[in-house]
Amino acid sequence: MTLEQRISTKQARVGVVGLGYVGLPLAVEFASRGFETIGIDLDQEKVHAINAGRKYIADVEERKFAACVKSGKLTARGDYECVNSLDAVYICVPTPFTPHKEPDISYIIHAATEISKKLRKGQLIILKSTTFPGTTEEYVQPILEKTGLKVGRDFHLAFSPERIDPGNKKWTTANTPVVIGGVTKKCTELTCKLTEQIVATVVPVSSPKIAEMEKLLENIFRSVNIALVNELARLCDRMGGINMWEVVEAASTKPFGFMPFYPGPGIGGHCILIDPYYLEWLARKYDFQTNFIALAAETNESMPFYVKDIVLREISMRPVPLRNAKILVLGVAFKKDVDDTRHSPALRVMELLHMDGARNIVYNDPFVPTAQIDGLEFKSVPLTKSLLRSSDCVLITTDHSSYDYDFIVQHAKLIIDTRNATKHVKEGREKIVLLGDGR
Ligand SMILES: NC(=O)c1ccc[n+]([C@@H]2O[C@H](COP(=O)([O-])OP(=O)(O)OC[C@H]3O[C@@H](n4cnc5c(N)ncnc54)[C@H](O)[C@@H]3O)[C@@H](O)[C@H]2O)c1
Repeated sequence: MTLEQRISTKQARVGVVGLGYVGLPLAVEFASRGFETIGIDLDQEKVHAINAGRKYIADVEERKFAACVKSGKLTARGDYECVNSLDAVYICVPTPFTPHKEPDISYIIHAATEISKKLRKGQLIILKSTTFPGTTEEYVQPILEKTGLKVGRDFHLAFSPERIDPGNKKWTTANTPVVIGGVTKKCTELTCKLTEQIVATVVPVSSPKIAEMEKLLENIFRSVNIALVNELARLCDRMGGINMWEVVEAASTKPFGFMPFYPGPGIGGHCILIDPYYLEWLARKYDFQTNFIALAAETNESMPFYVKDIVLREISMRPVPLRNAKILVLGVAFKKDVDDTRHSPALRVMELLHMDGARNIVYNDPFVPTAQIDGLEFKSVPLTKSLLRSSDCVLITTDHSSYDYDFIVQHAKLIIDTRNATKHVKEGREKIVLLGDGR
């Protein structure tokens, strides 16, 4: 039976390497559509959790996940032994940067090397990790071809970037279009065929490099636009009298040619903070300066410092020294309604405040029970009336939907709101310092 037939009859066995925010939802999607799906992860805790029916990614629907595990359609393992028996293998491993902000594709290299040890004729390998143009053909392909098998002839290889937006209820794995660039036409066709089994729309492009570059464009687009509104928010604060949030709302009424982006304490997560640096690094090889990327990074990465300075300014106006001032940080996840704290600007602000001498910092986050800052372990404290009343400053860094902002404003003495989370609060607005409101 050909791979096409195995796919269309759901007999294809699908492997997913890396069972994190990207890999687990993908594996669940295939398993729930009837494909035998095997997840591979080096983290034994994740492997055990899946096999025991315990999910650890909030976005994955509990019932769907449980059904996949119970039916045996979804299993996980901590090694690559099963690769030989798989028809298609997705690679969804991390692509972080080094301390000097250069690409670290070692996880991809490791995964590709392990897969190559079991590679056989007829298999389809799909890289999903976000990376710089050329990774699929110049790094992954040679590793797989070292086996003597040839892409296009013996096996198939494609790059298909992930667009999942954790916490987004409207756009999910199943309804977000997926871009696919195969090394050969056949590679693209097969990847489209497989992807069509779980998503409504596939978008084939002419090469892996196009797909790699378009993913970076998506994330650089966000980074640049967020930097733009952050810069204008700071200008509004400097000028006084112009509220940047109202400006964005007004501009958003234009039905074409404008898309709203909002100011904030900085960017975080595993994507828009990191990915632009992948392209900046590559561009240097061509004596090319990616000025937009650099400027956006500079602006966005300066936002935690700006927020820290607002906190210091406001506390300096109170009869309490910074060292003793109780600073309550609300929300340490990098964005609302998720538990992901990777590169969170909130943690950066806490770290900067700590470095400047603040010693009474506490936080609450309904999604994040503990957090590490400057080598210190912090625990989320219950958000109570007395906590709010006893805090000298309440800093809103992540606008989780579950927070009762009326309650927060009612009981706090001073609120610094970096997300306009308190926009609907009517009473007590005089206590709110809003980033970018030009007050
Ligand atoms: N998180 C997102 O919202 C998002 C969105 C789009 C794209 N991406 C991209 O997807 C990729 C994965 O991101 P993520 O957020 O899912 O990461 P993650 O850290 O949540 O998950 C990665 C998983 O891979 C495992 N792993 C690492 N090396 C491995 C190896 N050699 N073999 C097997 N397993 C291995 C880790 O244990 C971890 O469970 C990254 O390139 C990221 O940029 C992420």
